[in-house]
Amino acid sequence: MAAPIVHAGLEVLYTRDQIARRVAEMGEQISRDFAGQKVVLVGVLKGATIFLADLARCISLDATFDFLSTSSYGKGHQQSGEVKLLKDVDHSVEGQNIILVEDILDTGLTLTYLHRVLNAHQPKSLKIAALLDKPARRIQKIEGDYIGFTIPNKFVVGYGLDYAERYRNLPDICVIPPSALGDE
Ligand code: IMP
Ligand code: MG
Repeated sequence: MAAPIVHAGLEVLYTRDQIARRVAEMGEQISRDFAGQKVVLVGVLKGATIFLADLARCISLDATFDFLSTSSYGKGHQQSGEVKLLKDVDHSVEGQNIILVEDILDTGLTLTYLHRVLNAHQPKSLKIAALLDKPARRIQKIEGDYIGFTIPNKFVVGYGLDYAERYRNLPDICVIPPSALGDE
């Protein structure tokens, strides 16, 4: 398969094959942990969509989808520190097993906030599945229950992750060199 043209010049951190293998393992783990139960996969728009789509197909359980949306970043890579809920879940998740699906756990501000929002819906259980974890940047003490890869403090794009809304469609996870990051 040919790489999209926007791939040019970016260093690949994880290839599509490495991602697929890890996502399959995460799906198997979730399937074991919730054997015989239903789960609601709650994705954080838009970064988690590709991960959720692949993870869901590796989960052999009765599963439904819902989505949340937040704003915490500007157009580029800088964290404003303020998280706002732009869209709540469509359906009640009271009494359900929720798996909050996110692209990356960075400062932890977003997932700490969303954990509180979803807990207010009184779920039966609430777990976090994040494809990537960047612990060096953590401000809020929060850990994921299912983590794909723990990465160094680099700005990454692809497989759903963006820089100013670009690069989400890259099949691999790539690093944006610091020199290419503006102060948007
Ligand atoms: P947190 O609230 O700082 O944990 O940030 C979570 C959000 O920041 C993620 O959902 C991403 O949208 C964004 N983010 C954090 N690090 C990166 C990165 O390296 N690349 C792209 N987006 C990132
Ligand atoms: Mg995001």
